[in-house]
Amino acid sequence: MPEKVWVKVCPVIDLPNGKAINILVNGQRFVVARCDDQAYMVQGYCTHMLYPLKDAKVEGCIITCPLHGSKFDLRDGSVQNWPMPMLEDIKQKKMLRTFETQVKDGIMYVAWVADDPSKVRIRF
Ligand code: FES
Repeated sequence: MPEKVWVKVCPVIDLPNGKAINILVNGQRFVVARCDDQAYMVQGYCTHMLYPLKDAKVEGCIITCPLHGSKFDLRDGSVQNWPMPMLEDIKQKKMLRTFETQVKDGIMYVAWVADDPSKVRIRF
């Protein structure tokens, strides 16, 4: 039966300041980034036109897509800026997918649902 497990990602200090980096969890692509003393993981592609968010600029907790400048809050995935005017209900649909994370003793962990926790593979 699948259950939620906390998977160790890396020491937060290893995450670069000011940009997101790629991470693969069981072969699926996401990005992780630091914000204040926390670290967050979101989907690896922008919801505008699916441009990769690898190396995207991060200021505070805001990640900016390198292609057209959409901005999202890493903490909840909310859209902070979009390349064109958009209706509020569309804004909800364009949020980034976020994942539950925590930092404990300087190490970043992500919550993952797995049948067998020992088979969750993290790669950068
Ligand atoms: S693809 Fe990201 S803003 Fe357009």
